[in-house]
Amino acid sequence: MSDRQKVWVSQPLFDDIVARLHDHFDVTQVAEVTNHTPEATAAALREVDGVLVTLNERVGAAEIAEASKLRAVCNLGVGYNNLDIAALHAQGIVATNTPDVLTETTADFGFALMMAAARRVTEAEHHLRAGKWQGWNFKGLLGADLHGSTLGILGMGRIGQGIAKRASGFDMRVLYHNRSRLPADIERDCKASWVDFDTLFAEADHLVLVLPYSAANHHIVDAAALAKMQPTATLTNIARGGIVDEAALADALANGRLASAALDVFEGEPVVDPRLLALDNIVLTPHVASGSLATRRAMVGLAVDNLIAALGEGPDAGNPPTPIAGIKDAKRPGTA
Ligand code: 8YV
Repeated sequence: MSDRQKVWVSQPLFDDIVARLHDHFDVTQVAEVTNHTPEATAAALREVDGVLVTLNERVGAAEIAEASKLRAVCNLGVGYNNLDIAALHAQGIVATNTPDVLTETTADFGFALMMAAARRVTEAEHHLRAGKWQGWNFKGLLGADLHGSTLGILGMGRIGQGIAKRASGFDMRVLYHNRSRLPADIERDCKASWVDFDTLFAEADHLVLVLPYSAANHHIVDAAALAKMQPTATLTNIARGGIVDEAALADALANGRLASAALDVFEGEPVVDPRLLALDNIVLTPHVASGSLATRRAMVGLAVDNLIAALGEGPDAGNPPTPIAGIKDAKRPGTA
């Protein structure tokens, strides 16, 4: 029997990159995209020293209860609300994520969604494909401008800052809200001004959500927050579905309280609330914001580096490049 450490790779990734794991470990690779049940995840974790997981796999106290060998949980994503960091750290298990490598790609996509919502891109395409374009209509499918408008960013971490920088090219005024205000030099670089939560919602023509999800900001965008927005405004969410009360959003969009929205993330992923699916004035994408080929490859590369190092192998043995800090010294919300 091999005395090599064992690792589990929870989803199909890129074989040429995952191959680096085979140099160090016995690898069990899931071959098909799979929605693992918590029981299946727990069963897989029981057998191994380390794992590569995606947000599809919840790893908390219950899943690790019998994982006596487990020493490393390496997440593919900057957001790690699928992991219970306190429970992992309490068992001495290292947790890592994939920050930085996805910042620009995700900011690109956030901008693309915001533009699509403002200019009703998917609605216009559905109109055309449905054969409804019967003649040229001067007043048909009119949208809102981005240029010269006010961009609001909730959560001004790396991705939020990337979106702010892109907004310069569109001559947008950039407002942001974060629990902690950014240093003056970063605000200057991003040409962004801090405002309180209510002012952000009231003044944004286009509001983008980029804050990490935590229990504290569950449904932070609820009916009351949406009521503060201008009826001409758009809302884009590339963070996590649980930040938005989807029922309240569907109501606001249906009742003309909000012009349009774009969502890449959903509370019950991969199930999408039928009230959202029924609306025309919403752009819906299946959690693909970091999904450029180059970036997804870079995420896997970083996660593989993390796993090799966290299990004491390779040149960085014992020092994975991007560990998730303990709860005590964890970064504050808004630093994604
Ligand atoms: C990932 C994401 O694709 O990084 C994140 O937080 O939401 C996405 O980039 C997703 O986490 C897959 O695991």
